[in-house]
Amino acid sequence: MIILGIETSCDETSVSVLKDKKILSNIVLSQINIHKKFGGVVPEVAARHHLLNLPVIYTEALKKANINPEDVDAVAVTYGPGLIGALLVGLSFAKGISARYDIPLVGVNHIIGHVYANYIAYPDLTPPFIVLMVSGGHTEILKVEREKIEVLGKTMDDAAGEAFDKVARILKLGYPGGPEIEKIAKNGDPNKFNFPRPMINSKNYNFSFSGLKTSVLYTVKNFKDSIPTADIAASFQEAVVDILLHKTFKAARDSGINKIVLAGGVAANSRLREKAKLLGIKFKYDILIPPLEFCTDNAAMIAMAGYYKLSEGKIDSLDLEAAPNLKINP
Ligand code: KG4
Ligand code: ZN
Repeated sequence: MIILGIETSCDETSVSVLKDKKILSNIVLSQINIHKKFGGVVPEVAARHHLLNLPVIYTEALKKANINPEDVDAVAVTYGPGLIGALLVGLSFAKGISARYDIPLVGVNHIIGHVYANYIAYPDLTPPFIVLMVSGGHTEILKVEREKIEVLGKTMDDAAGEAFDKVARILKLGYPGGPEIEKIAKNGDPNKFNFPRPMINSKNYNFSFSGLKTSVLYTVKNFKDSIPTADIAASFQEAVVDILLHKTFKAARDSGINKIVLAGGVAANSRLREKAKLLGIKFKYDILIPPLEFCTDNAAMIAMAGYYKLSEGKIDSLDLEAAPNLKINP
């Protein structure tokens, strides 16, 4: 069974070929350098670049996998959540392939795709496990059980990556903010500023980052000149990591599940990875952190999620619509 995966929900154009759960190719073209100068992803620009690049990436993915278009048995595509224009490009392309080669179309929820990325990184992984899903657009704690994915908690305002990006802007660092803050934080004192950890002691598994961001803004404003950027970045990063891990470990403990997986772009953060591992050792949890290429957006995870959906006999019609605000359990 050969599955083609297509991902265009944000600013990565990606196509992957999967054969019986083995990745034959996974081509990812990031638009980051195009959006950098605007300080964030410009939806219209993203859609136009997907339109230009997707046919090229498709051809490249087939070539790398050493297969012909006729060899593909099904096409899996992200249909939400994401930017509407960007999603439409991938979905329309996938529908075209489905119609042209008369093969099934499988719509994949992007967040569920991130969960399936873990099955690529860890082929022996079996549910149940807890996922901390942290990216530019999402911050969720998921409980994955056989046949079921439950959202235990989510952010009430900004996503964790969004908070990194906004604080980086306050500190006049570049975009995307996460890697910039991480870099400069290495020279700073994480205990210099005691930033708030909103909702850390709330009884649920939800998050809030906007108060923390505002607190950073006021701290910066208090300095007329010579802002201690490294100390502020390190203290902010420590607060985010504390909040994320506190709630994730609480979710694992309360659910009686001893396996925790990190996913999404923010899982690239070295302090988050390091502290997750330390707490894992201390409290006896298995901590799984996929390699970065499967944390950030890619089509291999979409193809993998499509494979599982297809093996349950689920396919979609060509009427499937892009769903920018798609939820995990619609
Ligand atoms: O998953 P991703 O590549 O794209 C989606 O949002 O789907 O995540 C991008 C986000 C950005 O907000 C970026 O600032 C953040 O992940 N990020 C990081 C790091 N690398 C990327 N945040 C903290 N530390 C990092 N090293
Ligand atoms: Zn994503």
